[in-house]
Amino acid sequence: MKKVNIKVCCGNKCSERGAVRILEELQDKFDESSVEISKCLDYCERAPTVIADDKIYFECRTKDIAERIKKDSGLPITEIKIEDLHLDDDLI
Ligand code: FES
Repeated sequence: MKKVNIKVCCGNKCSERGAVRILEELQDKFDESSVEISKCLDYCERAPTVIADDKIYFECRTKDIAERIKKDSGLPITEIKIEDLHLDDDLI
């Protein structure tokens, strides 16, 4: 899988607005070694802030930041797990 270098700002403002949850989400969705904590990136008014390679993301939300980064990086967006499929019992 292509490696994306991600920095999650964990300065005061970003932390107040959920940076730790975003960090955990990105560590879960990407290679953990490619996700780092960053000091304040000086965009506090648009916190929480994440940098992925050469792109900066503002007002990040846990629910879609991983997909936004994957989409912009050309990575597959979702992995379908077999338990996520709702097969009709009649077809099995
Ligand atoms: S605290 Fe994150 S940009 Fe300042």
